[in-house]
Amino acid sequence: MELFDNHIKLFRTALGSFIGLTIIVAIIPAINNQNNNAPLPNSIPLNEKAQLGKLSFIANGCVACHTQQVRNVDMDKMWGTRPGIAADYAANTRTDFWRNTATLMGTERTGPDLTNIGNRQPSLAWNLLHLYQPRAVVKSSIMPAYPWLFAIKNEVGKDEVEVVVPDEYRKGISGKIIAKKEAINLVAYLQSLRQTSLPDGKTPMEFLYKKKENPIASENKKEELPDGQMLYTQNCASCHQANGEGLKGAFPPLKGSPIVVGNDLELYVNIIMLGYDARADYAVMNAVGTINNFSPEQVTSIINHEKTSWGNQSKTVTTEEVKKIMDFIKITNNK
Ligand code: HEC
Ligand code: HEC
Repeated sequence: MELFDNHIKLFRTALGSFIGLTIIVAIIPAINNQNNNAPLPNSIPLNEKAQLGKLSFIANGCVACHTQQVRNVDMDKMWGTRPGIAADYAANTRTDFWRNTATLMGTERTGPDLTNIGNRQPSLAWNLLHLYQPRAVVKSSIMPAYPWLFAIKNEVGKDEVEVVVPDEYRKGISGKIIAKKEAINLVAYLQSLRQTSLPDGKTPMEFLYKKKENPIASENKKEELPDGQMLYTQNCASCHQANGEGLKGAFPPLKGSPIVVGNDLELYVNIIMLGYDARADYAVMNAVGTINNFSPEQVTSIINHEKTSWGNQSKTVTTEEVKKIMDFIKITNNK
């Protein structure tokens, strides 16, 4: 055949096919995608700090272990309220002239998905300590530490943030551990990662392949309160630890805590719903209950779990008592 003998023809044909296929397979779909997907109306653009934080997220290789995509399969339900859609990534533009768009969807999920981490773990103190030394907050964590995001200084300057690090992890360090700007920006980026809700009237895609529930078991459950231990593990243990002992200098123990074993239920419910910042020698607790939209049943089962665990032996409370306080919190907060 002449085509195979004439190198000019052969080269032109190959090049032509390559360009043609690239247009059909890559360029037309990309343009189509771009024209048909705008950022969701209530999505919030990254502020300047978060934008810089995103760059250090890229620079430190966090995407190697963390995805930012909620797939429409049931096992991904824990990472967001709905499966992700193309519009979630529509605000991403080129990183700079030389670098392509970083959507940071990731392919490896060695650590948890971070699509909604801003809602799940918004605490600055927790995030800084976790970046400085993951094992200080999650004992068996395999995440690397990022000590170069921090500096050791003698004095905490104005506008600087000191990281509360338990003694065990500050051996050989005599000064104060200060978060560098890069660490603050990185946490600002993590705090900005919140799944955007769909506009009114739009129904999200469904999660597929649901686990079949055992009908007998769920019928029995109706009467009971939710699982307090599980709620504690999901929402409180990251700071107060699984053994309820907290972390010295950062998060107070709930084991033997006068608030947990005491009778001031109003203060207790207030702390869970609205957060707590009473003492300088501990970090700040954020409004865990409000952020996660806890129901009175959930709050009651968490409280009862704490009142009866780790050697705490205190009288449990009823949903009714808790609901009364939560209703009051709602009224005063909406004013
Ligand atoms: C080698 C893999 C690896 C790398 C790299 C890594 N992480 Fe992690 N990350 C993990 C694992 C495993 C966990 C779960 C245990 C824990 O909380 O420490 C985790 C947990 C987290 C959490 C808490 C998630 C949750 O749902 O509680 C955050 C936030 C986080 N990582 C941020 C980062 C940031 C920011 C970087 C880059 C500076 C990073 N990670 C780099 C493996 C990694
Ligand atoms: C981001 C970390 C964090 C998370 C998550 C968290 N807390 Fe806290 N919690 C704190 C800190 C810090 C304090 C102390 C604040 C202070 O005294 O200034 C505190 C204080 C408390 C206290 C008062 C204890 C005492 O003896 O003073 C109770 C009770 C409590 N938390 C319950 C909970 C419950 C229940 C949850 C889960 C629903 C929870 N916390 C989740 C950080 C956290």
